[in-house]
Parts: sequence; structure tokens; C-alpha cells
Amino acid sequence: MSKGRLITFEGSEGAGKSTQVKALKKYLVSLGYKVVCTFEPGGGSDLCKKIRSLLLSPDSGDFSDETELFMMLAARAEHVESLVLPSLSRGEIVICDRFIDSSVAYQGYGRGIDIKTISQMNAFAIKGRYPDLTVVMDIDPVIGLKRAAKTGSLDRIESAALSFHQNVREGFMSLAQEGERYFVVDASLDIQTLESEIKERVLKLLKYEN
Ligand code: TMP
Repeated sequence: MSKGRLITFEGSEGAGKSTQVKALKKYLVSLGYKVVCTFEPGGGSDLCKKIRSLLLSPDSGDFSDETELFMMLAARAEHVESLVLPSLSRGEIVICDRFIDSSVAYQGYGRGIDIKTISQMNAFAIKGRYPDLTVVMDIDPVIGLKRAAKTGSLDRIESAALSFHQNVREGFMSLAQEGERYFVVDASLDIQTLESEIKERVLKLLKYEN
């Protein structure tokens, strides 16, 4: 059985992650791989979905940044335990729309919580299973938020100030300098160009690590 692979997609609002996740899944399935697509917060068990709705609904009202972080981490721990690790142990490719880096970018760079603390909490929640590849889709938040607004009303986090979203973008870009697992793409490029850049990078991962 082949080794499971964890590929995550990250980026600011409206970067087009879900379109690229779908395209990559289709491509990998056509090559014969078993692929599971999932997302955070909310992928995994019913509990994860309930936490997502509490986190994103404007009806949840105000709560502290620390509470927000703990809820993201609770959803992550449950997601990893209920879906990510079992799928990886069956040798499947797991493609996850947002993962640990979103907590660093949003709750760290965006809300201002200590980055080292978040990284330690992340390591605990994922039981040390880091992604094999992280595609960071970079987009100017002014453009991204306009795109996001077109798909419906903005949720509790999307509605934060532009300066918050600019800090989040900076967070992703600075994370991307940290290691080889990051692959940054310019999300303002057309969908097909992005698809082929991402495919090429993923093939490299599968080829070199098989
Ligand atoms: P989504 O709309 O891409 O599904 O993401 C939900 C929102 O949750 C998005 O605004 C980013 C935010 N988020 C965090 O703030 N921290 C996290 O750890 C994760 C996974 C998402």
C-alpha cells in the first residue's frame, strides 16, 4: 500500500482554494490515487460541523480571541482523529482546505496571539502529523474579499477589518519562507494556469516520496 500524503491549501479569503482543491482531486483520481477532500474548520465528525457553525455565525456574537483559537483547535483535533489520520493510514491522499497555518495567520498575525504558543497547540492537535505539502494561494485581500462577497454574505471572520486581512496575508507570506513544504502561487492568475502549476508541484511530491 502506498504511503498516505497530506496536502493542505491555505490563503486569504476569496483566493479560490476550493476550485483548486476540486481540480486537484479530479486529476489525482484520474491517475488512480484514492483521494479524500476535507476542510477546516468543520471537516470530520458532526461535532466539527457544530464548532464551525459556532465559530462563523455572526449570531454567535463577540467572544475572545483565545476562545476563537481554542475552538479552531478543538475542531482540528477532532478532525485529525476522526478523518485525517485514519485516511492517511489507509494510504490515501488527504487534501485539506485550510489547516494549521490558518491558525497562525488568522489567530496569530490577525488577532495578535503569540505565534509560538499557537504552533505548540497546533503540534498537539495534529499529533505531530504535519502536511507533506502546503499550497499557499496569495491574493490581495481587497480583491479576495470582493470575490468572497459575491458568493454570499460575509461570515463573522470575513467581516473583520481590512487591516486584519492584510495582516493575515502577511502571516501566510512569512510562514511560506519557513520551509520546503510551502508552495506559493499567485491566486490572481487564471484558473488553468494555477491548476497546472499546482499539478506539477504535487507530481514532484508524489514522485520523489514514493
Ligand atoms: P473557509 O471559509 O475558508 O472555510 O474558512 C473559514 C474561516 O475560518 C476563514 O475566515 C478562515 C478562518 N480560520 C481561522 O481563523 N483559523 C483557522 O485555524 C482556520 C482553519 C480557519
